[in-house]
Amino acid sequence: MQRRLYTGNDPRRAHSIEELRGMARRRVPNFCFEYVEGGSEDESTLRRNRDVFGEIAFRPRSLVDVSKRDIGINLFGRRSNAPFMIGPTGFSGLLSHEGDIALASAAAAAGVPYILSNASTVALEQVVERAGGRVWMQVYMYRTRDFVAKLAARAKKANVEALVVTTDSAIYGKREWDLRNYARPLKLDVRNTLDVLAHPRWMMDVLWPHGMPRFANLGDLLPPGQDSVRGAASALAKELDPSLSWNDIRWLRDLWPGKLIVKGLIHPDDAARAVSLGADGIVLSNHGGRQLDGSVSAMDVLPEVVDEVKGRLAIMLDGGFRRGSDIVKAMALGADAVLVGRATTWGLGAGGRAGVDRAIEILKTEVDRVIGLLGVSSIGELDTRFIEWARLGARQPSHTKQASVELELQ
Ligand SMILES: Cc1cc2nc3c(=O)[nH]c(=O)nc-3n(C[C@H](O)[C@H](O)[C@H](O)COP(=O)(O)O)c2cc1C
Repeated sequence: MQRRLYTGNDPRRAHSIEELRGMARRRVPNFCFEYVEGGSEDESTLRRNRDVFGEIAFRPRSLVDVSKRDIGINLFGRRSNAPFMIGPTGFSGLLSHEGDIALASAAAAAGVPYILSNASTVALEQVVERAGGRVWMQVYMYRTRDFVAKLAARAKKANVEALVVTTDSAIYGKREWDLRNYARPLKLDVRNTLDVLAHPRWMMDVLWPHGMPRFANLGDLLPPGQDSVRGAASALAKELDPSLSWNDIRWLRDLWPGKLIVKGLIHPDDAARAVSLGADGIVLSNHGGRQLDGSVSAMDVLPEVVDEVKGRLAIMLDGGFRRGSDIVKAMALGADAVLVGRATTWGLGAGGRAGVDRAIEILKTEVDRVIGLLGVSSIGELDTRFIEWARLGARQPSHTKQASVELELQ
């Protein structure tokens, strides 16, 4: 018997993130889908981000009353209704009109934070005002540091809770599948131009009557009238700054009074460095496999980072999270929260706000079901005793030992 995923257009009928991905693939032109989908070079890191979850198995407990469950967590002294949030993805307006608003308002409705990319197509003030909820703002360290300072000042004025500085993109990754769609920089080749015409639903949503989306936060950085993607591309490429160093993090720490989160670290020593500079959180990340191909995944380094810095700042991570079970594995290993990138972006591509709502709902219900099946009622009860993973080695306390300790105590 052939098993088939749902092939319709209604995101509410999707049962998995994979089904939303399929819907997005059908709804948006190939060049948009590839922009989201692709990783750098041979995409080995992109694959690693998924493969790592297959190495980790659960060790559930049985006969535990799990009739009342709560998947909420506490993050920076406030409740979040789920152990994950929406991570920053630039140019979301390409997937659906005002995509940043759809993502932010879906996150607000679900009671989880939303991290707005500085490369958004809706201005940060508008996102905060129209979506509400907990908005964090991601920034790149452009050569024009004055622009970064101005962006931080705007974020502060708009009551953004946290600034997330991305450190893994000072040199742009080589995303060949993305490049192959263009005859020359930002000029689609014939095949892709025809493909756009074959996606009328997307054209009616994104192109008409609004025209191609524009970068809404980067105006001051770009020459006048150059905020279109085409105009901005060369200006932004010149603004990427490979001289980025820890001194810049120190500079940002002095400048930004709110929560400061460093995103894009993947080494335990760098996590320790972030603590020493007064960061409030880190996001272990390889940028969804879009930067250094061949890098380890954030999950690979999570146990070491937990050993190094747990309790001294919030440990967050991303890369490859597509199932509630993936999120539960990270939380059991000691993460404080998880970011999702493509999962909700595919939801956006599948059906705008309704698609994002569905992506969040799928992940939430999966997390809830998985913790119940593991025999715990809350995220706080998870730890490495529920995990079997060769990499944990000596860190893994044995269940048998734990059980006998509990028996002795009774
Ligand atoms: C389409 C797309 C755009 C992205 N844009 C940004 C960005 O503007 N800033 C940033 O820090 N990370 C960006 N990222 C990386 C994500 O924040 C995140 O690290 C990554 O997507 C996580 O992996 P996942 O997609 O497998 O969940 C982007 C990722 C994607 C897929």
